[in-house]
Parts: sequence; structure tokens; C-alpha cells
Amino acid sequence: MSGRLRSAVGRALRRRLVPEPDPVLPPFPSEGVLGRGCMLACYRDEDAPARLELEHSEGMLMWRSAFADPMMTPEQALSWCRSQQAQARSGRLPASYAILSRGNHAPPVYAGDITVRQAVGGFAAVEVSIALLPRMRGRQLAIPASYAVLHWLTAVEGLHRIEVAHSVKNRVVCVLADTVGLPREGTKRQAFPVKNANGDIEWHDACSHAGLTAELRRSLPAAVTD
Ligand SMILES: CC(C)(COP(=O)(O)OP(=O)(O)OC[C@H]1O[C@@H](n2cnc3c(N)ncnc32)[C@H](O)[C@@H]1OP(=O)(O)O)[C@@H](O)C(=O)NCCC(=O)NCCS
Repeated sequence: MSGRLRSAVGRALRRRLVPEPDPVLPPFPSEGVLGRGCMLACYRDEDAPARLELEHSEGMLMWRSAFADPMMTPEQALSWCRSQQAQARSGRLPASYAILSRGNHAPPVYAGDITVRQAVGGFAAVEVSIALLPRMRGRQLAIPASYAVLHWLTAVEGLHRIEVAHSVKNRVVCVLADTVGLPREGTKRQAFPVKNANGDIEWHDACSHAGLTAELRRSLPAAVTD
């Protein structure tokens, strides 16, 4: 047996015995994943300007780790969009998907981002985070977009937990996570680094939420198919 075949057989056998410890998602569907009034799609080149705007919009300091450098230029945003197209198509993590708002007769419009990454210290677990452009907030998009990503993730074989972590000061995410079936599990003391207006790092307590994929499959509202 060749080395490559042997490792493929080994992986298949391990999958049957235990959930995959390092989740790899299937390629993201090219037609996207529908939600009520929105869809998740692979990033396109034309999303780059709006994604750059999102990067610097209000509230984003509560989204990104204070240790991650923000994108600064249109070129960086374009190259990031292309890297996320590749991640989504390959199923590798972390992967970001564009949230597009869709109306009845208008073409879909870029509204924000959902990122899926491997959960830190978790087995067969991913962490999800969401951000919307300020003009797209409060427009009934966050909950449907979250349901859409949960539909996508709960269909992944071997994935066991879906987590969300946020600063305790970010109340809207707490409500959002509870609403979509990712209840609060506890608080990690000073686990969330946030850069304040002076550029100094403040450590916020972090609220941890999670849903089990088996439970979510039973509780999620029906997928949108239109
Ligand atoms: C998090 C985010 C995507 C939510 O989107 P949104 O459009 O603002 O959320 P919604 O208006 O749909 O609100 C979702 C729920 O939270 C509630 N909510 C909104 N603001 C709230 C607040 N300040 N305190 C408590 N609840 C709040 C809403 O009432 C709604 O609950 P309901 O459906 O029961 O009425 C958006 O605020 C955002 O992009 N924030 C910046 C990035 C960020 O912090 N992301 C989270 C990292 S995981």
C-alpha cells in the first residue's frame, strides 16, 4: 500500500472511531447558503471595499483580537478576499464567508462577515464570529445569517460543538448566541483582549457560548430554500 493510500485509510478509520479532532469542512457550496433575507457566499473580489469598511467600522474592536493587525489598504483587502475564496473552496479553517443581504428584486448586497475557525483547545469544535456593517445592523440579518451558518456547520460529519466567545461588554452577541441555540456556558476571566481608544490593551471577561451539533440539528428552524 502506498504511503498516501495508507494515510487516507488511517484517516477514514479514525473518523469512524472518534470525531475528527481537527475539523476540515467540505468545500463551501458554490451556490451559497440561504437564510431569511440573506445568504452566505464565498467572498468575491468586488466585496473588498466593503470588507475594508467593515474592518474599520464601529464595534469591530470588540470582534477582532487586539493582537491581530487590521487590514489597511484596498490591496490587502482584495488579497484577503481571494485568500478566503480559496479557504472556503478547500474547506480549510479559518474561513470567512460574506453575508449578503437579499431583497425580492434587488441583487444581493454585501452586509458583513461570518468567520469559522477551529476552537482553541477544543476537539471537533469550531468557533464562529459575525460582524455586520453598521448600516446593516438592526435589520433582521444577524439571526438569519447565524442560522444559515449553523445549518451549514451542523451538516458537517464529525463536528461536535459550535462555540461563540465574546467580551461580556458586547451584550448584543450574548442575546444573539442565546437566540440561535448557543447557550451561555460560563465566563472566562480577562480572556478577551480589546484595544482601547489610546491603543492600550484592556482585558475583558469573556462569555463562552456553545451548541452541540446533535442538539442544534433538532432545534434549528427549517433551512430556507427559496
Ligand atoms: C453582533 C452584530 C452582528 C449583531 O447584529 P445586529 O444587527 O446589531 O443585531 P440585531 O439587531 O439583529 O440584534 C440581535 C438581538 O440582540 C438584541 N440586542 C441588540 N442590541 C442589544 C443590546 N445592546 N443589548 C441587549 N440586546 C441587544 C436585539 O433586540 C435582538 O434580539 P431580538 O431578536 O430578541 O429582538 C452587530 O452588532 C455587529 O456587527 N457588531 C460588531 C461586531 C461584533 O461585535 N461581532 C460579534 C463578535 S462574535
